Amino acid sequence: MITQAEYKIRRQKLSEFIKEGVLILPGNISYIRNHDVEFDFRQNSDFWYLTGFNEPNTIMVLTFNPSIEYILFVEPYDVNYHIWLGERTGIEGAINNFKADKAYPINEINNILPEIIAEFSNIYYRNGTNFNVDSIINKYSNSNLRSVIGTRGNYNLRKKDVIESTHIIDPIPFISQLRLYKSDNEIELIKNAINISKTGFEHTLNILKPGINEYEIQTELEYQFRKNGSRYNAYPAIIASGENACVLHYINNNSFLNDDEFILIDAGAEYENYASDITRTYMISNNINSLKKMIYDIVFDAQQKAINSVKPNTTLSKIHKIALEVLVQGLKDIKILKGSKDEIIERNLYKEFYMHGTSHWLGLDVHDTCPYTLNQKDILLEPGMIFTVEPGLYFTNRSRYSDKNQILSGTGVRIEDDILVTENGHINLSSDISYR
Ligand code: GLY
Ligand code: MN
Ligand code: MN
Repeated sequence: MITQAEYKIRRQKLSEFIKEGVLILPGNISYIRNHDVEFDFRQNSDFWYLTGFNEPNTIMVLTFNPSIEYILFVEPYDVNYHIWLGERTGIEGAINNFKADKAYPINEINNILPEIIAEFSNIYYRNGTNFNVDSIINKYSNSNLRSVIGTRGNYNLRKKDVIESTHIIDPIPFISQLRLYKSDNEIELIKNAINISKTGFEHTLNILKPGINEYEIQTELEYQFRKNGSRYNAYPAIIASGENACVLHYINNNSFLNDDEFILIDAGAEYENYASDITRTYMISNNINSLKKMIYDIVFDAQQKAINSVKPNTTLSKIHKIALEVLVQGLKDIKILKGSKDEIIERNLYKEFYMHGTSHWLGLDVHDTCPYTLNQKDILLEPGMIFTVEPGLYFTNRSRYSDKNQILSGTGVRIEDDILVTENGHINLSSDISYR
């Protein structure tokens, strides 16, 4: 569990980036599914990271003066809401339980926020995240809305951008940097999510056989997720048999399972908003072609060698290269690709069979929004960082590369684990989920 003290430390850490100014961070609103039915609510990850507050339509304001004042705009107590949907935290709860210095009803934001922002020349806000806040800032600040100072995955924190600007500065890159380093409590929550996922994967093995449908696997998996304390999946489960595995984010999950095929299961439970992300590729029966088994072995070898290389100061690019070299050598060995390894990699010839990256950060988001580079340099791995290692090989029935593809046509294999960097190397947090 993340304590209020930890949320406070996270807010304070933002002072490393923000010396003077006001930060405005809206949480998620609730979205209509149809008529008067809403989609399940999931809090915005950055908002959750800094508040732990799980209600829709809440806005956090932090003033840095330079000491921090923590203000929440929340939905107040409402007897009708209480009757239909239950209790809300309300103003008192925001102060007493969530340790806000001040709390106001959200419907007063148009009166109160202009007064707050008038005091500051730096407004830290991502334009476009909340229509109402956009219009307040446009109306009451003398700023020109600027575009973000970084793009997803490559944040340039040049001092000039931060200090000289008197206008609107995107705070998300700063929060994303903090989210790169997982605390002990966060690591425990991710381990919990992984353990729940493990139960689900194990149960799918009990029912796996030709003739059943992908949705039966999904149902079994998600039954175990819910039963063991995961309210939601971290992302829609990918239950892909045969050629469906060549659709990287396949979610139809409605084909019947055949002999002589693999089933690729890419799924993860979410626990207290922390994700797990695991892929296993299982044989549906022992009746599988030996060339398909060789593909499995190549991917497994690539994955294990990449994982074994994880230690502080290496980079995700280097880990990707290790996996890629094993995959390419394997494709050469079985005569799917010809030529030198370097040439194949340089000319991207492998991309017909391996078209995605090997790793992504993992945390509150399955593809955690932490930076991959800082000032154009790869992030060096440090203890507390968590990411996936997930090489794969895919032979779609569109491939015309070699005759051998006829046997392999419609085969996809991916294997994915969640890796924690430690002082001495790494821990594979999901290694005890059966690989075969
Ligand atoms: N489950 C999506 C991914 O592996 O990135
Ligand atoms: Mn992944
Ligand atoms: Mn995955």
